[in-house]
Amino acid sequence: MTENARFLAGTFEHDGVIYPKDFNRSVIERPEIVNCREDDVFVASYPKAGTTWMIEIVSLIMNEGNTEINSSTPQLVRTPMIESNLELPFRLRWTIHLLKFLEPILPKFIIQSRSIKMLLLLEKTGLEAAIGLKQMEKIPSPRLLKCHLPYQVFPSQAIEKKCKIVYVARNPKDTGVSYFHHCSLGFPPMDYKGSWNDFYQLYVNDKVWYGSWFDHVLTWWQHRDDENILFLKYEDMKKDPKGTVKSIAVFLDISLRDDTIDNIVEFCSFKKMRKSETVNISLVVGEKNKHQFIRKGVVGDWMNFFTVAQNKEYEKIYEERMKGSGLDFEW
Ligand code: A3P
Repeated sequence: MTENARFLAGTFEHDGVIYPKDFNRSVIERPEIVNCREDDVFVASYPKAGTTWMIEIVSLIMNEGNTEINSSTPQLVRTPMIESNLELPFRLRWTIHLLKFLEPILPKFIIQSRSIKMLLLLEKTGLEAAIGLKQMEKIPSPRLLKCHLPYQVFPSQAIEKKCKIVYVARNPKDTGVSYFHHCSLGFPPMDYKGSWNDFYQLYVNDKVWYGSWFDHVLTWWQHRDDENILFLKYEDMKKDPKGTVKSIAVFLDISLRDDTIDNIVEFCSFKKMRKSETVNISLVVGEKNKHQFIRKGVVGDWMNFFTVAQNKEYEKIYEERMKGSGLDFEW
């Protein structure tokens, strides 16, 4: 089996869009089952748009600059990803308990192995904590929730209740390169072993999780003027992080002091987030891997990956798909 065929074997398709097989199918097939509260806030995006960065910013705004929870609790626990489905089987939970107990006496090479590190990370995050729906129920209001869902399968209750949604988009070339690194992180389901050239074929043919970048971003873009949706771009966040924090605070109706805004920008800087164990999963599971989660954080890294021919092909698709949309990106 080729690496791309192996990747595709780990997915399922709904409405022409593919998703990782172990995600919660019901959330995607029946968006009405997700219980939403009126004061829920969502960060939505196509993967690799800077979602983790946006979540840090929005959560700090919601906490009026208090960094305590962000420093102590993994982001995936405090901001559940609703379509995720990490339900730990009973036996695995016991293995984790046992591991935690034995950790002080186990040889270092066992503790350092990637799978054991991953299990210990899960222990840290709260055991029965499924990362998806069940965990959502446990979180007190106002909740901050994450998803990568296309608009057409976004929880319908959230739309009806006009929950606030911050959507972040990033130019598709950098997104594709970042996606390649993400899929190659080295632990399931992110264990893609092919080259960039192989991955490009998946990306350009919409055979990656969450499907076509264009369909995803353009459908959300059509809703940019809805009163409960704020559409932002990664490139603008890079250019003006302080302005970004201010505009989100206004959208959420939260007033912040100027020094609080500065602190939020600083706490969420690339340098700080890269060192943070609560957001940078590479620090916990894949430190030695050349692929990183909080990796480069720049605009234009695609130039180091796209070949001349790939770029020519992609530019043509971009021109065709974006024509008349009024949406453009800098790269
Ligand atoms: P790169 O792989 O290009 O470096 P997501 O959170 O949606 O998975 O997006 C991940 C991308 O956002 C990665 O891009 C990551 O480095 C970047 N990123 C994360 N935190 C950032 C920050 N504070 N500033 C700039 N970019 C950041």
